[in-house]
Amino acid sequence: MKVLVTGGLGFIGSNFIRQALKTRPSWSVVNLDLRTYAGNPASVADLPKSRHRWVKGDIRDRKAVDRAMKGCEKVVHFAAETHVDRSILDASAFLTTNIVGTQVLLDAALRHGVRRFLHVSTDEVYGSVPRGYSKEGDSLEPNSPYAASKAASDLLVRSYFVTHKAPVLTTRASNNYGPYQYPEKALPLMITNFMEDKPFPMYGDGRQVRDWLHVVDHARAILAVLEKGTLGEVYNIGGSYTCRNRELLERVLKLMGKDARLVKRVADRKGHDRRYALDCGKLLGLGFRHAYDFDAGLRETIAWYRANERWWRPLKNDGGYRSYYKTQYKRR
Ligand code: TYD
Repeated sequence: MKVLVTGGLGFIGSNFIRQALKTRPSWSVVNLDLRTYAGNPASVADLPKSRHRWVKGDIRDRKAVDRAMKGCEKVVHFAAETHVDRSILDASAFLTTNIVGTQVLLDAALRHGVRRFLHVSTDEVYGSVPRGYSKEGDSLEPNSPYAASKAASDLLVRSYFVTHKAPVLTTRASNNYGPYQYPEKALPLMITNFMEDKPFPMYGDGRQVRDWLHVVDHARAILAVLEKGTLGEVYNIGGSYTCRNRELLERVLKLMGKDARLVKRVADRKGHDRRYALDCGKLLGLGFRHAYDFDAGLRETIAWYRANERWWRPLKNDGGYRSYYKTQYKRR
């Protein structure tokens, strides 16, 4: 079976393809990816060429999408701009890629008679939840331009189900961690900075709460929803561990044998959401169970970054990355 994965050079997309090829012997994957700053061919270099093909292309480009989708029975849509801090600096690419890109893909899926289209989204669409757990039917109250663009794409997917009977499913996941994550996100930034004895900039009081999901568990959950989920429905995918950023930092410092002086308190992120938390009852109802315990997953992730300096070092040395960080620090 031929499956189209969008954004398969990214962190979650590449891990998803690796997991799918390992556990679904009948699959071959067309990986449509534009190779933006966050996409890395090195993340899929180990995948078998007979079952995985990267096609360079933009999801906003109807012709490129048509070519890639031809003959595909299923679509799993990861391609998106995802970093909140970048969306605060400039939201333009978030709106075109995340919203228009999703519309172009949905239209193509209708033309090509795709049987199942899974749209990958985020817990950030619910906004900050001071207490309790977000359920799939809760109102969407996005607070960052990134989250607003994802909420818009979720609503677009819903509208294609109602209007066109498009065979869609949506998943909303919590904070992912694991191998191959671009070192702008909190956890890989922490690990790689500490490896270099550089400080980690902790935003505000560090009491923000995040729910941590191992990327392989995320991939396993997406496969479960793709194969067993009800069309038109939304499924939350939470992790197995929730904590404040301060606690995460303490754990990483301890596991890496580093001093707390490496944590540098900086001005808070604008509009910083205090807490995300998901109710995952619906996903568990499909029979899904987590395979990763946070402590073991975190140790393994630190070990991966230690063993794979060749993967992340060039990313941090890149001129684009350096100038992004200069802009970040200038603001703080
Ligand atoms: P991030 O990985 O950007 O994910 P999200 O904002 O989508 O949850 O950040 C995780 C948490 O870490 C979030 O509360 C912001 C915080 N953070 C810092 O304190 N410093 C940093 O340099 C970064 C990137 C994030």
